[in-house]
Amino acid sequence: MSQTNKTIAITGGAGFIGSHLVRLFVNKYPRYRVVNIDVLTYAGNLNNLKDIESKENYIFEHADICDEQKIDQLFSAYHFDAIIHLAAESHVDRSIMDPLAFVRTNVLGTGVLLNTARKYWTDSSQTLFYHVSTDEVYGSLGETGFFTETTPYDPRSPYSASKAASDHLVMAYYHTYDLPVVLSNCSNNYGSYHFPEKLIPLMINNILQNKPLPVYGKGENIRDWLWVEDHVKAIDTIFHQGKTGEKYNIGGFNEWKNIDLVKLLCRIMDKKLQREPGTSEKLITYVKDRAGHDLRYAIDATKLNKELGWSPSLQFEEGLEKTVDWYLQNQDWVKDVTSGHYQQYYNEQYNKR
Ligand code: NAD
Ligand code: DAU
Repeated sequence: MSQTNKTIAITGGAGFIGSHLVRLFVNKYPRYRVVNIDVLTYAGNLNNLKDIESKENYIFEHADICDEQKIDQLFSAYHFDAIIHLAAESHVDRSIMDPLAFVRTNVLGTGVLLNTARKYWTDSSQTLFYHVSTDEVYGSLGETGFFTETTPYDPRSPYSASKAASDHLVMAYYHTYDLPVVLSNCSNNYGSYHFPEKLIPLMINNILQNKPLPVYGKGENIRDWLWVEDHVKAIDTIFHQGKTGEKYNIGGFNEWKNIDLVKLLCRIMDKKLQREPGTSEKLITYVKDRAGHDLRYAIDATKLNKELGWSPSLQFEEGLEKTVDWYLQNQDWVKDVTSGHYQQYYNEQYNKR
């Protein structure tokens, strides 16, 4: 995609990764008009975008991506040149409790966007549908090996199955209707504005409040962590330089066993809160494992590095400290997003274990 004037829809722009992407595009590309389409579920929060909400090139549209009529109206009103699609139900534990919510948003919602793009983009030479996806579509690795772009799909949770279905739909629109698409599959993100139901912000929050730290199973599952700002820089790179019809893996070669990561967080928090070393580790509580818990994810991002020159900018320990500092300085945000409905969900989850 060239960098001339254009109107770009970003779906899910009020969520964790979406808000970082909207901020990057609004600030870096004043000639782009960025339209954030978000229905504001529990995970979407306009406070994530307070610093850019009054910029001239930013517009918010409150809309459900499953609402065909509304999405049609938006395409008709804005003449989008491109869509970067992030809106999704994103939490694996929730997908185990309510799979159909994931089928609806992640599969049907993606289908509605693709179909509307196909209807409006009759001359597709200057348009692009960028689908943001996850490494979880590849399933679970054993002790060795990496996910590459040619690893067969083998999703194992309702969340990853719904994301895999959406990836397949995107490629089907490319092959069948020549819709210009590009796709990326990223590993676990961390950083500011991460909803505190996910491992890292949940642990930070619980350590701060002296609550138990629920580690699933034996804590031996492995995730590959990437700073969210490096993820959105990769999206920027792929959006502008990626090849139509291609997919790119995004990851930082940064694998951590859950228990080692939680212990590292405990040490950082003890230092920040000036607690006796070892205080926070005493909160670690092994709980019943997640059903179908994937053992290990590890991304091989060589293609993105070699072909488009992207590589992560931040070391994990530094990124984790930055993240902890952000949560300590933004307790009002945490209180705001975890009030009401969320607290009930958390208690239900915790009591089940
Ligand atoms: P998130 O849950 O923080 O945010 C999702 C956003 O989508 C929210 O703002 C929510 O309001 C919005 N949304 C949900 N349903 C919608 C609907 N029907 N219509 C319009 N908006 C809707 O998610 P995230 O962690 O920022 O993930 C964003 C995307 O990146 C997802 O597609 C996810 O699969 C993918 N991804 C996430 C990670 C990660 O580690 N978080 C890693 C790889 C890929
Ligand atoms: O790999 C990319 C995926 O990473 C994204 O597609 C998902 O949207 C995102 O939520 C994330 O999925 P995970 O399931 O890996 O993330 P989560 O933070 O929920 O869990 C990380 C690991 O920590 C996982 O092995 C489960 C474990 N865990 C999680 C929670 C919430 C615990 O041990 N205790 C917990 O309380």
